[in-house]
Amino acid sequence: MTSTSPSVPARASAPPIEVNDASVVLGSNLILDAVDLTVYGGESVALLGANGSGKSTLVKTILGLLPVRSGTVRLFGHDARERRTVPWGRVGYVPQRVGASSGVPATALEVVRSGLLSPGRPFADRGRSARRRALEALDAVGLADRARDHVQVFSGGQSQRVLIARALVRSPELLLLDEPLAGIDRASRESLAVTLADLRRRGLTLLTVLHEMGELSDVIERAVVLAEGRVVFDGPKSELAHDHARHDELGHDRPDDCEHEHEHGATEPAAHHAPVLTTSVRQAGGVK
Ligand SMILES: Nc1ncnc2c1ncn2[C@@H]1O[C@H](COP(=O)(O)OP(=O)(O)O)[C@@H](O)[C@H]1O
Ligand SMILES: [Mg+2]
Repeated sequence: MTSTSPSVPARASAPPIEVNDASVVLGSNLILDAVDLTVYGGESVALLGANGSGKSTLVKTILGLLPVRSGTVRLFGHDARERRTVPWGRVGYVPQRVGASSGVPATALEVVRSGLLSPGRPFADRGRSARRRALEALDAVGLADRARDHVQVFSGGQSQRVLIARALVRSPELLLLDEPLAGIDRASRESLAVTLADLRRRGLTLLTVLHEMGELSDVIERAVVLAEGRVVFDGPKSELAHDHARHDELGHDRPDDCEHEHEHGATEPAAHHAPVLTTSVRQAGGVK
């Protein structure tokens, strides 16, 4: 019945993300087990879970980078397996950050412009409009004045924002971020929260992988928690508030009077594996 050609959009109102009963096997292990997740336009969803629970795997599966053993994944109504039909320009992805020292020397502007490249458009990063769009994207993350600086000298938080700008340069409607807070200092976490809040106001749909909501709590409305590849919670952030109170209440309402509690080793990306709801989803009285 549906004779969709690549040029014809699927249902205009299709949700940005629809994962139905998706299972993923890597090696011989079942990494995602019958996962259901629909993210609607304009939503901001946190994907939480302990280390190794399958968060990055789910993000890569949503992007069609890993195959499903069973079930389906749709992006804006298009089957992610049929990669040529997916409107990739509507999708931005900020991968889990790798060391800032890796890579060739490049300015922030060059890195962001590279986000315009795609297999069918080998020169898309050239020219005046590419430059303008890259500057706009850098402006959106508060780095317009650093466009000519080499990213090698950037802090972890600034590098993270450059990567977000690169994902934004094609004006996506959906942005997936994998652990954007990991390994960056508190000031950067806060400016990242401002950046994401701004993107939300512009109507972007956000799916953000987090260990804990931390500074991003105000930007999140719904939480999905994975444990051992299964969705063990999916609901309003407020229903998780008690479990996360220890993290959530810091640094938001009283931004300046609680620094001492909130610095967990800015230079240790994975040092604080605060288990986000593994077994005790409803543990009460989390405030110390
Ligand atoms: N390519 C792979 N082959 C086999 N196992 C993998 C592969 N990638 C990830 N895994 C395993 O899948 C599980 C989930 O990993 P991941 O999605 O990266 O977790 P998270 O992002 O929640 O920390 C882990 O146990 C990890 O060891
Ligand atoms: Mg991960």
